[in-house]
Order: sequence, then structure tokens, then C-alpha cells
Amino acid sequence: MTGSAGEHGAQFNRLFGLFLGVTGAFYVLVVAGLVLALIHWRRRGGEDGARVAERGLIFWLGAVLLGLTGLTLASFVADRNVAAAMPSGARLRVELTANQWWWDVIYSNGNPGERMRTANELHLPADVPVELVLKSKDVIHSFWVPALAGKQDMIPGRTNTLTVLARRVGRWRGQCAEFCGTQHAHMALDVTIEPPGKFAAWWRAGLAPAATPSSALAQAGYDYVTSRECANCHTIAGTPATGTLGPDLTHFASRASIGAGTFPLTRGHLYGWVADPQGAKAGVNMPTIGLDAQNLHAVVAYLEGLK
Ligand code: CUA
Repeated sequence: MTGSAGEHGAQFNRLFGLFLGVTGAFYVLVVAGLVLALIHWRRRGGEDGARVAERGLIFWLGAVLLGLTGLTLASFVADRNVAAAMPSGARLRVELTANQWWWDVIYSNGNPGERMRTANELHLPADVPVELVLKSKDVIHSFWVPALAGKQDMIPGRTNTLTVLARRVGRWRGQCAEFCGTQHAHMALDVTIEPPGKFAAWWRAGLAPAATPSSALAQAGYDYVTSRECANCHTIAGTPATGTLGPDLTHFASRASIGAGTFPLTRGHLYGWVADPQGAKAGVNMPTIGLDAQNLHAVVAYLEGLK
């Protein structure tokens, strides 16, 4: 979806429209003045031309002063509007940690029993202010959901916060906005803004442990994933897999994409990803293990069941 989905975005859009209008009008005035001056100079020139130029200059000075003052005031008002819309002390906190090249996402509301972890997706309740706590694990990244708010750097060893107020229900795209390595362009974030009731249901579902395998093939996949290489890096809640180097996979199959927005989550892309992550996203920290066909089918069957 396009357009603005949050309080910041809406204010920025209005401000951008105003700046574009005012500066556009000034541009037209400058060109018109130039053309008029050329015509005038050709026709008359001399003393008369100098008088016209003087009058034009005074008019221009007034127009520039008026325009700049107006834009400054408009910026100030937009800034105040954003501040007024954000009540202090948002209770809902989302901790986003940037990694090369994925997003670790932790939801908390002050109750330790309801702390929920996911990856590469951000769900926000509409009309509820949310405090985003932005960190980085390796290099400098930048959180940017254009429809929601402006960019905010994510710096190793430093915590930045950004309070957002989502307004429009829908799905939006976030993108890392600071060059962070070869796969910087493939560091996207799926953003879903939903009514508060639906958001609460999503959160509750996220607290549940992973689904148990529902077929013999998926069971074989479970055995592989939770006892071999995969478990060193990934957590799947309720199983022996407790690695934290890679994204949490507890409810992997309920997400929209693979590899931080690199591919849509379809069976074909999932096969491609599990079989050869290096071929799919070169340089990614997930190694290409070289699964044989039987294990590949099993692992994909298990992952597909992690709703
Ligand atoms: Cu992370 Cu660019």
C-alpha cells in the first residue's frame, strides 16, 4: 500500500506538499521574472530598466521573507501536532534489533509472561502509540517504514527510541535505510497495521509454543531441525532448538516472507532457501549445508507447519 499510515507520515506528507507548492511557485516566479527582464531589456533598457529591476528586487525580497517565515511556521506546527498526538509513556514496547540482514523483534507490555519474540515482521495496533526501541547487533542500520515515520539509525552499543502512532490498517513495507553490507537492499521488514483486537489475538498466538509436526515427513523434519545445524542458530519455542544467532522460527509459517522480505513465503521459495541460502541471498550468515533430497523435503514439511 502507498500513502501515509501513521501520524508522523501524515504530518510529513502535508508538510512536503506545502513545501513543494511554495518552492514550486517561487521557481515559476523566478523563471517568469527572468523572461520578463529579458524582454524588457531588449525593448527599453537604460534608466527605465534599472527602475523596474529595483522594484522587482524589493518585491522579491518581501516574497522570500514571507515564504520562508510561512514554511518555518508550518514546520513548527507539524512538529507540535506530532508531539501532541503522542501521549508520553506508551505502554506497548517493541524492541527491534537489526542484524546483517534481518530484524529481531521482541514485544513486551511490562508483564514478563507475555514477552513475545518474532522476526522480520512488525505488527502494530491502529491508533495506539507504540514505543520502538531500536538497537543493532553488528553494524549501523536504519529503521525506515516510509508510510509510518522518518528514518532512525540503529547503532551498535546505543539505544534509540521512536514512538509511532499507526493510523491506517493495512500492510506496509519497511526497509533498512543505511548501507550495512552486500545484502543491505534485501533487509526489508513486513509491517502490518491492524485493529487492536486483531493485534492482541496475533500477540496471544505468538506466545504459544510451536505447532507439533502433523505428519511422518514433518516429524522427520522436526528431528533434523532440532538436533542438527539449524538448532545452533534458530529458536523454535517448545523444542530443543534454542539458538539466537538467526531469526526465531516458532511461528515462521505465519509470516509473509523469507529472508527479511527477500522472497514471498511460498513452497518453491522455501525449498530454494533451505536448499541453498547462499545462492538465494549471497553472504547471508546461514550456510548452505547441502541437504540430501529426503532431508530437504522433511525440513520444508516441518517449517511449513510452523503456523
Ligand atoms: Cu541493514 Cu542496511
